Amino acid sequence: MTVFVLNGPNLNLLGAREPEIYGRTTLEDIGKALAAAAAKAGRKVEFRQTNHEGLLVDWVQEAGAKGKGLIINPGAYTHTSIAIHDALKMLAIPKIELHLSNIHAREAFRRLSYVSPAVDAVICGLGAAGYLTALDALIRLIDKKPFA
Ligand code: DQA
Repeated sequence: MTVFVLNGPNLNLLGAREPEIYGRTTLEDIGKALAAAAAKAGRKVEFRQTNHEGLLVDWVQEAGAKGKGLIINPGAYTHTSIAIHDALKMLAIPKIELHLSNIHAREAFRRLSYVSPAVDAVICGLGAAGYLTALDALIRLIDKKPFA
C-alpha cells in the first residue's frame, strides 16, 4: 500500500534555504525518515520533489490512480495554483496539505491557500517533524481509524 508525498518548488534546497524558517533538515533526510516510519506501519512512500507546476499536477493525478493517500507541500504554488487545486479536487483518496512553516504567521500573501479547500486536513508550523505527523494522520484517515 503506497502513499504519495509530493513536494513543490525550492524544497530541494531544504537545509540550506532560509534555515531560520525551514530548519536544517534536508529533503533527503525527511524522505528517509518517512520511508522508515512508513515501513514500520506496513506502507511504502513514493517521495518526490519538483520545481514545475505541471509536473506536480501530473503527480497528483498519478497519486489518485496508484496511491492510497497523499501528502502535498506545494511550496509557493500553494498561494497561486488553481491547477493544483483542481487536480486535488478530483482525488478520492485521503489528502493532507503540509507546510514546514506556519504560513499564517508570516507574510500576508502566504495566508491564502488555494490548496486548503481541496484537502481533508492542513498541518503547518511543525518543521520537518510535520511530515511524520502528516504520515501518521494520513494512515489514520486511510484506515478510518477512530481516536485512540
Ligand atoms: C512552504 C510555505 C510556502 O509559503 C513557501 O512558498 C514554501 C514552503 C512551507 O513548507 O512552509 O516554499 O510550503
